[in-house]
Order: sequence, then structure tokens, then C-alpha cells
Amino acid sequence: MFKIAVMGCGVVGSGVADILLEKKEELSTRFKDEVALGAILDIRDFTGTPYEAYTTGNADEIFANPDIKLVVMTIGGLDLPYQLSKRALESGRHVVTSNKEVVAAYGKELTKLAFDNGVQFLYEASAGGGIPVIRPMNICLSSNDIYEIQGILNGTTNYILTKMKEDKMSFADALALAQKKGFAEANPTADVDGHDACRKIAILSSIAYGAFVDYKDVPCKGIRDVSYEDLALADKAGFAIKLIGSSKNTKQGVVISVEPLLLDKSHMLSGVSSVFNSVLVKGTYTGDVMFYGKGAGKLATASAVMGDIIEILCGTNPKVLPGYAENDAKVISDSEGMSRYYIRIKINGDVESTEVRQVAKSIFGEEGKIILPDNEAPSYMAVVTGYVSEKNLDAKKVELEKTLSVTCENIIRVEG
Ligand code: HSE
Repeated sequence: MFKIAVMGCGVVGSGVADILLEKKEELSTRFKDEVALGAILDIRDFTGTPYEAYTTGNADEIFANPDIKLVVMTIGGLDLPYQLSKRALESGRHVVTSNKEVVAAYGKELTKLAFDNGVQFLYEASAGGGIPVIRPMNICLSSNDIYEIQGILNGTTNYILTKMKEDKMSFADALALAQKKGFAEANPTADVDGHDACRKIAILSSIAYGAFVDYKDVPCKGIRDVSYEDLALADKAGFAIKLIGSSKNTKQGVVISVEPLLLDKSHMLSGVSSVFNSVLVKGTYTGDVMFYGKGAGKLATASAVMGDIIEILCGTNPKVLPGYAENDAKVISDSEGMSRYYIRIKINGDVESTEVRQVAKSIFGEEGKIILPDNEAPSYMAVVTGYVSEKNLDAKKVELEKTLSVTCENIIRVEG
């Protein structure tokens, strides 16, 4: 008897419960045991739904049931799901979770706790939604030294940026639609301001580099300042704008960030749109490996949870702890590095746009590429600079704003 308790029957939890109900016989035949949904922990009233017979609001009832061998942790937030995961592991039950907050904050501790109790703590669904990326990195790519990861790791923001650009939808309308579809977090600030992507790049980097990356050390910028005008101007210049989580493992430490970036249209992540996520992993033996799929949503994410459940049913408990459970990564900053930048310039009052072009050209030099909107008397334009340091960029921005009545409204780094 292998019964599974789903703790938290929201978007992902209900997806897992649905699959377990649908696949009960198939799983039981395959694993020659009764594999089934055993309980649901939730305080909501599910009267009249398929979940009714399984639901309790009392976790003690679940922990008192010896047939429950695995807990699916799909409660949102941090403290309660952490405490319940800990309790489940200490009681000798496996835990599978999609909760990124818990994995990013306590993944190291819970992985060790699982190991010490002879069970597993798995979290494929915590980064990249339905995309299998954690297991391939943990196993298939693990003979490589992975030296770089770049990813579109948040479905909500990718959906918003796509809708803004392709359907000229406002930021607020696109976000409301993402919430309706169940992509966004309960508090969408985590999506929009990049915190969700931060946790995911920290989780992936910890696995890839064999050292725990604290998500709180990840410099993080979201998409609130990206406007339709930015998306259109970037497009004109041959770029897409995407929220990118990236990290590099260097000799000095891990350089990591989450920020909107201009990606050349030839970049493999530039065409990833809507709720899709994609992760590009660079390994010493494989070179580039790309993962792509739905990064959020009920059944896509539930599919990743099911993959972990099936791994546990296959009975392959690890014999050694993963590197990130024993070592900590050193996160370093790359502020000395050179980058190209996109700057949107707002033209104030009577200033002629031709004058702005001339001054911008003289400040940013031959390498600076001016991008104009289609209208005849534009009130804004953009420049894509050549390679400059952050400090130098700041000086040029100040010089431009001092010379003319213009405002540098938005600055976005160009990838590469
Ligand atoms: N809010 C998250 C996203 C859900 O939009 O990607 C999946 O982690």
C-alpha cells in the first residue's frame, strides 16, 4: 500500500490529485502495489467535488495514517509548508514539492533531513514548471562541469511581456489574465519583481555548481519598468526583451542575476513566448543543452510532481548527499564587467529630436545605435550603446541629461 497525501489542494495540488485519481490503476499495476491518493489537507470546503472524500483540515490525521508513505507539499508560502515537510521527513515519509520558496530557503536542510531519515525530498516542479530540468541536471549532465545557466524561469512575466508586445495589452490586463489562468503567484509581486525567478535560478545553480546558492544574494530586477515602447523599439533594433535568470560559475565565485535583458533575435531564448519557460545549460562535455516547456499551470506543474513520485516509486534512494547539501557557494558581483545597454530617452518640452540624436551620438560614439519610433515628431527615442562599464554608463547618462532637457527613463542591459 503506497498512499499519497496532497497537502494544499490549490492549482498544482488539485492537478496532482486529479492525475492520481485518473492514473490509480495504471500506477498500481506498474508498481505492483496499491498506489493511490490517500488524503488531502486543505481547509477549503470541497463538498460535491472528487476531493470531498479525501479532505481533512487536520494534519495529525494524515500523520497518524501509516499507509501514507509520501507527502506532496503544494501549500504556498513558507513557514507552514516548511514545518509540515520537516514533520513528514522526520516521520519517514518522502516529500515532493513544487514550493520554490521552501526549496530556495530550506532545500539544503530538508535534503539532509531526508537523507538522514532514509527517504527523499524531491522538487522537480519548483523550477521550470512542467519542464524536466532538475533531474537531467542532477543525473544526466552531472559528469559535466556546468559553467553557465540562462533561463526564462517565470511564466507569468513571460506571458505579460508577450501579451504587451503582441496584443498591445496593458501590463495590468495581461497580469489579470495570467492570474485567471492560474500562472501567477497568490501575491503576483513575486512574479513581477523577479523574486520567483530569483529563487528558481538559485535552485538550479545550486544543483549545477554543487554548492548552495542563497537566493537572497541574487541581484534582482523585475519587469515593472518595461513598457510597450521598449518592446517595440527593441524589436526594431533586432532584439526581444525577456526576464532572464542567469548564472556563471567562475573561479572567484558565482555571478548571478535576474533582470530584464535585450536578447538578440538569434539568441535561443529570444523566441520563447507566452507561459513557456526555457533553460539553457552549458556543460563542458555537452556544450549547450536547451530545455523548453510550460513553466506554470495546473497540469504541466502537476506532471513534474508526478515525475518525482514515480522516481520514488522506482525505489532509487540516493547513496550520497548532493554537493549543495554540504557546500555553500560564494556569490560575487560583476559590476566591473563591460556590457551594452539600451536606454530609452524621454524628450522634454521643445527639444528637437534631431538635436537629441546628435548629442546622443556624440556622447555614446559611433558604436551607439539610435532607435526611433515610427511617428514623425517623436517624444522619445532609444540608444543601444557599445560596451561600457556601469560607472561609465552612469557618467554618460548624467552628461546627456545635463546637456539637454531629456530624461533617461529606462535602462536595460543587452545580453552578451
Ligand atoms: N508564478 C510562477 C510562474 C508559477 O509564473 O512561473 C510557476 O512557478
